[in-house]
Amino acid sequence: MGNLRTRIVSWVTRRYLARAQKKGLDLSKLAILPDAALMPLKRDALDPVPELGRAREQTPVTKLPVPFGLNLWLVSGYEEAKAVLGDAKAFSNDFEHLVGKADGAEQNPGGLGFADPPVHTRLRRLLTPEFTMRRLSRLKPGIEEIVNERLDLMAKADGPVDLVEEFALPIPSLVICELLGVPYEERDAFQHLAVARFDLFGGAGASLGAISESLEYLLGVVREQRKNPGDGLLGMIIKEHGDEVDDRELAGLADGVLTGGFETTASMLALGALVLLQDPESFAKVRDDDESIHGFVEELLRYLTVVQVAFPRFAREDVEIGGQSIKEGDMVVVSLSGANRDDVLGQAMGGFDGTRVPAKHLAFGYGAHRCIGAELARMELRSAYPALVRRFPEMRLAVSPDELEFRKVSIVYGVEKLPVTLR
Ligand code: HEM
Repeated sequence: MGNLRTRIVSWVTRRYLARAQKKGLDLSKLAILPDAALMPLKRDALDPVPELGRAREQTPVTKLPVPFGLNLWLVSGYEEAKAVLGDAKAFSNDFEHLVGKADGAEQNPGGLGFADPPVHTRLRRLLTPEFTMRRLSRLKPGIEEIVNERLDLMAKADGPVDLVEEFALPIPSLVICELLGVPYEERDAFQHLAVARFDLFGGAGASLGAISESLEYLLGVVREQRKNPGDGLLGMIIKEHGDEVDDRELAGLADGVLTGGFETTASMLALGALVLLQDPESFAKVRDDDESIHGFVEELLRYLTVVQVAFPRFAREDVEIGGQSIKEGDMVVVSLSGANRDDVLGQAMGGFDGTRVPAKHLAFGYGAHRCIGAELARMELRSAYPALVRRFPEMRLAVSPDELEFRKVSIVYGVEKLPVTLR
């Protein structure tokens, strides 16, 4: 979801501009939303900005100030977030509610995340069998190998190492290679492409270029697999449902898996490593106690909530949530980071507690669009953190924490670089 903001804004703008000529509106201003509307996308180091907590305490469903007569609601309470995400009948994920029906056959860029039933149901059903525990277990040895290879490479470095570049980015992109069934010799090309996909600093042009490059590349992979289907996700879908899906649709699904599974997991790996570096007790526990990793990863998912907001939802009908009347057509942004800090979940949910095993959280969303890759992400995190701290028990931050640069405004939160000394 890395370049999602850029994608959404440029897609909405492109779609809108065509309609605007007919209607005389200017929605391209979406790119310059007022600060208050961007509040759920901002943080103060690892924590959401304090305004988010205040908003949740006062009104867990609150209207954000936006121009163009659009009604935009921010939902930051846990129960209220579940009420929205769990009601696919009252809330749609389709951006057409904002920009109107597509005139041509222009493809929606968000894959599953922007689709409603029946399209969502059909596409998700193609993917679901590839994400069962049984199918995912085939990836476990490969994940361990990928993690160990990265640690071997890091061990060769003389000076400080950037954990983002050497650890957090390569692991999920190589795992997605394995998942999709991209041939081994193409790993480097795939990794390069994956990283280019979310280079927000490349600007909208560069990101869009990377999206079409990625789609073209994946289309090539799909065509190869069509001729000679392998054992990965693409090969299996081709073998079992090849006649229900065309090559472009399949490349789009693979692109959705890459977008959904790469930057999210990479951000978790980097920010989770930062938490470990700043919390010696958790560091020691993850190093010494195999059982602790499950609770540690759940608390980390909850506390970091790297996907800060869910895809926007649009009310299909008038509906009351948290005592507020949301009207048909209104847009609703669910703050997952707000919901995961709601005190209905327990005590002192604002902070990270390495001894807590949270019973529930919304880091993977909820309802029909809940993250399809949640178990795969957990497998990666549970494998990578213990391996990292066991290999480098002396690891320390190589800069002071206030020198770290975090994303300023983003849907997926992250740190740009994480320099560490390993010994
Ligand atoms: C720690 C890592 C991850 C986090 C925090 C995360 C979070 C999320 C969240 C919050 C959603 C739901 C958004 C909404 O309802 O609007 C989502 C959806 C999705 N995720 Fe993940 N995700 C992660 C890893 C992955 C992985 C590894 C994959 C695949 C390899 C993946 C693929 C997807 C897809 C395809 C969707 C769309 C599902 C749908 O709309 O039906 N994610 N993810």
